[in-house]
Amino acid sequence: LRIVVLVSGNGSNLEALIAGCATGEIPACIVAVISNRPDAHALERAARHGIPAVALDHRGFPTRAAFDQALRDSIDAHAPDLVVLAGFMRILTPGFVAHYAGRMLNIHPSLLPAYPGLHTHARALADGAAQHGASIHFVTSELDGGPVVLQGEVPVAADDDPARLAARVQRIEHLIYPRAVAWYAAGRLRLSNGHATLDGAAI
Ligand code: GRF
Repeated sequence: LRIVVLVSGNGSNLEALIAGCATGEIPACIVAVISNRPDAHALERAARHGIPAVALDHRGFPTRAAFDQALRDSIDAHAPDLVVLAGFMRILTPGFVAHYAGRMLNIHPSLLPAYPGLHTHARALADGAAQHGASIHFVTSELDGGPVVLQGEVPVAADDDPARLAARVQRIEHLIYPRAVAWYAAGRLRLSNGHATLDGAAI
């Protein structure tokens, strides 16, 4: 199974996915990594592992639709079975999302449906939340709103600041993303009629 990973930044989740493919936990191969930011550290990580690393700078396109068309062409040149968003920080147009319906996953740093959007850790702290975490979900046209596949919870400590809490969430991200991608690669995870299923049962 062929995976294209989209990134914008550090790429620690990419690294966890690469490791999962290398150990065989994920029965698949990452065939390309594409970043909308040319300076993303994730591109260096990909190159270090011999994975084609492509920079597609969104600032070079006149409209969001033009960027999304170029991104789609770049992805489809690698003929992926699955597109994985790993810290990809661009909102995607409905047409783009529809093209990859049921074959695009995202990771979001909150226990969805709580805290879609940005600044999730600060918002959880401001609310005095006792639990926080990360969610893997199928991507739909609703921002951070697609069917949830898997979540990882972490406790919030009394003396947490957003950076400390983010670090704790990231450790759980690196466990749950390879697991969810492995399910997909093994044919166990599907999106059917708008619902995520694992081994045929609703999640
Ligand atoms: C992760 O926390 C992810 O949930 C969020 O962006 C971060 C990406 O981190 N969407 P990295 O680039 O994988 O290290």
